[in-house]
Amino acid sequence: MTDDAWAGLVDSFAEGAYASAKGLVRTYVMHQQLLEHLAGPPGTVLDVGGGAGHQSFPLAQAGYEVTLLDPSAAMLDKARERLDRLPEEVRRRVTLLQGDGEKAVEAVGGRVFDAVLCHGVLGYLEQPDGLVDQLCQCAVPGGLVSIMTGNAQTMAVRPALEQRWADALAGFDSVEEVGVLGVPTRADTVEHLSELLSKHGVEALQWYGVWLFTDWLDFSGVEVDLSDSERVAAMAAVELEASKRDPYRQLSRPFHLVGRRLP
Ligand SMILES: C[S@@+](CC[C@H](N)C(=O)[O-])C[C@H]1O[C@@H](n2cnc3c(N)ncnc32)[C@H](O)[C@@H]1O
Repeated sequence: MTDDAWAGLVDSFAEGAYASAKGLVRTYVMHQQLLEHLAGPPGTVLDVGGGAGHQSFPLAQAGYEVTLLDPSAAMLDKARERLDRLPEEVRRRVTLLQGDGEKAVEAVGGRVFDAVLCHGVLGYLEQPDGLVDQLCQCAVPGGLVSIMTGNAQTMAVRPALEQRWADALAGFDSVEEVGVLGVPTRADTVEHLSELLSKHGVEALQWYGVWLFTDWLDFSGVEVDLSDSERVAAMAAVELEASKRDPYRQLSRPFHLVGRRLP
C-alpha cells in the first residue's frame, strides 16, 4: 500500500483525461448505460478501483449510496477533493475506503451491494480472474456487476490512427500496449470476461462500446470545442447510440460489460 503507483498519474487522469471530450463522453455514456440496468435509487453501489469518483459520484448525486474502494491514497485524496465540491446531502451518501480490489470482500467486511462497478482497472492487472471473483462476491443476488476495460479486438486502432503502422500491424494479434496515461495495459475480450463472470455466478446481460468518434478525432489531432454545450450534448448522444450498435460498438477501444448475479 506504501507503493502508490497511481500517485504520479492522478492529475493527468482526474483533471486531464476527464476534462477532455473523451472524458465527458465516457462519463455520460457509461452513466446512461448503467441507468438502463440499475433499479432506481435508493440502492447501494460499490466502485472498485473507483479512482477520483468520476463514475460513481454521479450515481451518488442520483440518490445511490456509494462506497468507493481504491488502493491509491493519492487517488482517494483527489476523490475527497472532488467530493468536497458536492452538496452535503450527496457527500453523506459516499464512503471512501482504501484497499485492493483483489481483497474487496474483506475491505467491505463482507457487505454486498446492489451494483458493483469496476471501470478501467482490470487492464492494469496481469490477470483478471481474482478481481472478477471478488466483484461477483460483492454483488447481492440479482445485483449488477459492471466492468469497463480495454477491448483486445481493437488493439490496432490507436497505433493506426497515430500512423504507427508497424505497431498497428502487431496490434491485430496483441493484447498489450502502453496506454494513453503512459502505463502498460492489458486488454480483454467480451467473451472471456463473460465466461469468467459466469464461472462466478454472474450472467452477462449486455455489452457496450464506450467512445468511438471522439477517440478517432483525438488521435487524429482534431480538437473538439467543448465550449458549445449543444454540440457537446449532440456528440454525447451520437456516442451513446454508437455504443449500443454493431458494428460501431465492436470498434470501440474500451468496452463496458454488464452482468447480473444469479439468485
Ligand atoms: C484508470 S483509473 C480508473 C478510475 C475509475 N474507476 C474511473 O473509471 O474513473 C484506475 C484506478 O484503478 C486503481 N487500481 C489499481 N490497481 C488496483 C487494484 N489492484 N484494485 C483496485 N483498484 C486498483 C488505481 O488506483 C486507479 O484509481
